[in-house]
Amino acid sequence: MIVVFGSINLDLVVMVKRLPLPGETSAGPDCQTFAGGKGANQALAARRAGAAVRMVGAVGTDAFATPALANLAAAGVDLSALRRLEGSTGIAMIGVEAAGENLIIVGSGVNARVSANWLSGQLAAGETLLMQAEIPLAEAARAIDLAEAAGARVIFNTAPATDPAVARLAARADVVISNESEAADVAAALGLPQVAAAYAAAMAATGRIAVVTLGSDGVLAHDGTTLYRVAPPQVAVVDTTGAGDAFCGALATALDRGADLGQALAEGVAAGSLACTATGAQSSAPDAADIARLAATLSVRRG
Ligand code: RIB
Repeated sequence: MIVVFGSINLDLVVMVKRLPLPGETSAGPDCQTFAGGKGANQALAARRAGAAVRMVGAVGTDAFATPALANLAAAGVDLSALRRLEGSTGIAMIGVEAAGENLIIVGSGVNARVSANWLSGQLAAGETLLMQAEIPLAEAARAIDLAEAAGARVIFNTAPATDPAVARLAARADVVISNESEAADVAAALGLPQVAAAYAAAMAATGRIAVVTLGSDGVLAHDGTTLYRVAPPQVAVVDTTGAGDAFCGALATALDRGADLGQALAEGVAAGSLACTATGAQSSAPDAADIARLAATLSVRRG
């Protein structure tokens, strides 16, 4: 079982020719709405990848709540611990340019009021708590306390890592997933080397697995004895929104079922790559069969 404690948003997406710089306006055609939020995206990605998943988080009392939850409900994610709080569902205003790159502004809404208390009784030994940094970090820290007490594994994705306190959470997780710049920030805050491979090795020496996503260079991770690298396959990129979330959901699913780190990385890379081939953060999350098919074509370098 994977328990995701995280954000739930409705994404308002406009495709534009070029993302605006500060002070600029970029116009595109219709605004499309998609279910999103890093927590919800990762919950859906893990469910599609084959895990039993429970989502713990909140939506508001507005009209955005139902569409924000639609994919999770349809996929069979357990929503019994979800709260509906007076106020606005989280939203993300997203511009996506022709090459697939995005720019995101988040209105947190009730995601800013989630409580780790809601996890009480929701975690058991051997289960996985999957979190991101899009909820209050003090609650994320309390969630780690609860997971430790229950004997559950903690997988923490540092995105979007706008607060130095993220490094303190990274230092307590069993598995930490970051992009290259987040990893460098975590490393700097913890006094570790900032080059990705050296950072992953230094984290492994403290008993943690650090996974660093490197965009078109794939991903690397260290388990204390081996440095793993997986290069991504070539795909036609349409929209990178949610690719990191698909990676995290699939990686967590593989580790939760007991796969070794190399296989889990290959499945994460396969899921993240497939997620780039369609618009929307959740609609593009691949299923277990597609992930397995593509992962089998990837080579895991061990060094
Ligand atoms: O990681 C992508 C997500 O970030 C989007 O779905 C958006 O809601 C923001 O939270």
